[in-house]
Amino acid sequence: MSRIPRFQEHLKTGFTAEALSAARFRAYAAKADDDGLPNLARHWRQLAGEKDRLAIELLGAAGQARGEGTDIGNAISAERYENDVLYPKMEREVDDATRQVLVGVMERQKGHLSHLEDLRRQLMAAKGDVGLPPAAESAAHD
Ligand SMILES: [Fe+2]
Repeated sequence: MSRIPRFQEHLKTGFTAEALSAARFRAYAAKADDDGLPNLARHWRQLAGEKDRLAIELLGAAGQARGEGTDIGNAISAERYENDVLYPKMEREVDDATRQVLVGVMERQKGHLSHLEDLRRQLMAAKGDVGLPPAAESAAHD
């Protein structure tokens, strides 16, 4: 028997399906761009944005977007699991070409974890909001 109520389990399943579709559609958009089909790429990205909104609605209804430190803590736990358990386990079981992909992912993942840890430090020290991310900060000064 599941630990969480059925309605919440279904909302989370819906979230996972929609979030996965959004990411998949963005990959299809990148492929369409590579294939010289920018209009098709735009359709994929528009649909991905709609999937994002559904995913947000579903996760919110499941009570899983709680705000501030709770969300950052959950994100840090997920990144640590990916970095310490998921990818290292997969890396041991694949061919060289796939390992190269996973090694590249793990390198970038370390950056995600340190970004999240930095955000947690900022949030604990701040009275209100945290600072802008690096890309948004430079855009804000343009
Ligand atoms: Fe990540």
